[in-house]
Amino acid sequence: MENNKKIYIETYGCQMNFSDSEIVASILKENGYEYAENLMSADIIFVNTCSIRENAEDRVRKRLQYFKSLRKKRPELLIGLLGCMADRTKTALMEEEQLLDLVAGPDSYRHLPRLLAEVGTGRRAIDTILSMDETYADITPVRLDSNGVSAFISIMRGCENYCSYCVVPSTRGQERSRDAASIVRETNDLFEKGYREVTLLGQNVNSYSWKSGNGTITFPDLLGQVAAVSPLMRIRFATSHPKDISNELLETIARNHNLCKAIHLPVQSGSNHVLNLMNRKYTREDYQERIRSIRQIIPGCTISTDIISGFCDETEEDHRDTLSLMQWVGYDAAFMFKYSERPQTLAADTLSDNVPEDVKDRRLTEIIDLQQQLSLTNNQKDIGKEFEILIEGRSKRSENQYFGRNTHNKVAVFNKTDAGPGEYVTVKITGATSATLLGDVVL
Ligand code: 5AD
Ligand code: SF4
Repeated sequence: MENNKKIYIETYGCQMNFSDSEIVASILKENGYEYAENLMSADIIFVNTCSIRENAEDRVRKRLQYFKSLRKKRPELLIGLLGCMADRTKTALMEEEQLLDLVAGPDSYRHLPRLLAEVGTGRRAIDTILSMDETYADITPVRLDSNGVSAFISIMRGCENYCSYCVVPSTRGQERSRDAASIVRETNDLFEKGYREVTLLGQNVNSYSWKSGNGTITFPDLLGQVAAVSPLMRIRFATSHPKDISNELLETIARNHNLCKAIHLPVQSGSNHVLNLMNRKYTREDYQERIRSIRQIIPGCTISTDIISGFCDETEEDHRDTLSLMQWVGYDAAFMFKYSERPQTLAADTLSDNVPEDVKDRRLTEIIDLQQQLSLTNNQKDIGKEFEILIEGRSKRSENQYFGRNTHNKVAVFNKTDAGPGEYVTVKITGATSATLLGDVVL
């Protein structure tokens, strides 16, 4: 089936959204659409959007204004909005601002061919209904912007943790897991195509659960099955919730060489007062206990996190608790954000966004500065060590260098050798910055 129409998808937000864009591309390809090489050659531009912070939404709005200006010159150009902003902003962006021809929410991508047909008859098309069982399990994603080495696999959708700051339960709906067999099959297909690293994605992968004929497959079970695809296939996953990360999971990681020794464990705050307001369902002490288990069961495992600064009612003392916990853990990396109130969240409904902007900014700067130091110190400890590095591609800085990652998710840059992307080399580390290890291939 061909219809000669070309689509282009611009993606904002998390890895899950990138994975969703690959599902959209696959669904449309099956229905005769081609993927355009670039924005300018597309007949239909989709923006796959994120609502997590206000500035994510602002960027999308600016982009849509630009696309509107393109449509003035090419009236046949269609603009579609996908993803987390769909439901909340459809009326404003479509009806009031006339920026869109089509809107589809995260569970409506199978309906895109029908929605596009509706648009073809001159109507505007909207579908933002969330589903209780859609997991796109049977869809083989088209890999977009791929390096041919690492890929994302979505293993569950939605979230029911209701952290008070977070828009995701309202934008992505109920939690549901994807058929384990389809995940293993997708990993296998990727391995056969030459991929050597997959990242299993979900909002809270620790609560993965799939009922199969002879029982329930839990996340550690799933990891074991995916790890068995090939010892040469590395497996990563994101994201874990500290309240659910079990010793059984840590032991599974420790047992399997190809399950990567890097855990992303978002803490959000180091203060019990704030953690309670955030509805995170663990205390600073619970979190520390989980870190001790990680260190004990997986020696050498790197730990990264997410931190929000300036949440409702956060005091200077709360902020200092966050800094001291960062020190205590000695994070290898962190994503750090300023709190941004989101509509339809518990915090927006029940708390006051009362930390002044300049205080939020200053606290965030202190958090970022501390993390820079921690990352640098940790990376410097790697000097002299040897790591197995999976080569991902050419370094951005130099033609003659490759970059790749070790099991700890640290990026290493080194001079090119005979081996190429998708192959493993042993690299001895000779230098480090806060973001990168530098080294020489020794094997
Ligand atoms: N404001 C700021 N940061 C947020 N995050 C989620 N919601 C918000 C918000 N309203 C951060 C959290 C989460 C990461 C994906 O984004 O740290 O772990
Ligand atoms: Fe991803 Fe959350 Fe942004 Fe949605 S709102 S794209 S789930 S980060």
